[in-house]
Amino acid sequence: MEEALLRLEALRSDALKGRDPTVCGETLEVLFRLAKGTERILEIGAAECLTSIGMHLVSGAAVTAIERDGERAKRARENIAAFRLEKDVRLIEGDAAEVLPCLEGPFDLIFLDGPKAQYRRYFSECKRLLGRGGVLVSDDVLLYGWVKGEPPKKRKMLAEHIREYLAMLEADPDLETEILEIGEGLAVSKKTGA
Ligand SMILES: C[S@@+](CC[C@H](N)C(=O)[O-])C[C@H]1O[C@@H](n2cnc3c(N)ncnc32)[C@H](O)[C@@H]1O
Repeated sequence: MEEALLRLEALRSDALKGRDPTVCGETLEVLFRLAKGTERILEIGAAECLTSIGMHLVSGAAVTAIERDGERAKRARENIAAFRLEKDVRLIEGDAAEVLPCLEGPFDLIFLDGPKAQYRRYFSECKRLLGRGGVLVSDDVLLYGWVKGEPPKKRKMLAEHIREYLAMLEADPDLETEILEIGEGLAVSKKTGA
C-alpha cells in the first residue's frame, strides 16, 4: 500500500496545478482518518478519482465516484485501471443530480466536492444515502473567505448558496456539524439521527 500511496502522491502533485484541483493534503488527511474502518464510500465530483483511489487504499472500502466531465472521467478510468482497482472503485460518469436518486445506501462516508451552487440540491439525497453514524464531508464551504466575509460582486450568489447550505447542515436535527478551517473550509457532519 505504501508504494501505491507514493504513486498516488505523484499524480496528486500534477493535479494540484490544474483547474478544479484535487483536495489539499490537510483535507486528504481528514478524509483518510474518516475513511478508516468504513465499508462504503461515495464521492460526488470525483475529477480524476485520485481522492477516491486514496480513500480506498487506506480503508479497503468499496468506493462509488460520480464525475460529469467526460475528459476527467476518462482520466479517472485510466487511473483506476493503473492501480488495478476496477472492482473497488466504481466510476459513474454523469450529472450528480441524476445519478444520486439512482443509488442505494447506506454509505459510511460521503465526500461532497461537486458544483458548490448545487450542494443544497444534493443535500436530501446525501442524507438519504448516509447510514446512521455515517459522515458527510462537504468541501469548500468557506471559499476564499467569501462565505463569512464580503464576496466580490460576481461571487455574491455563490457565497449565498453556500451560506444557505451551511445553515441547512447546522439546523438539521439528525446531523452534528463541525466546520474545519482547512483548505477552503470543510464541513464534517455526522449523522446521529434517522
Ligand atoms: C473540485 S473538483 C473535484 C476534485 C476531486 N474531488 C478530488 O479530490 O480530486 C470538482 C469536480 O466536480 C465535477 N462536477 C461539476 N459539476 C458536476 C455535476 N453536476 N455532477 C458531477 N460532477 C460534477 C467537475 O467536473 C470537477 O471535476
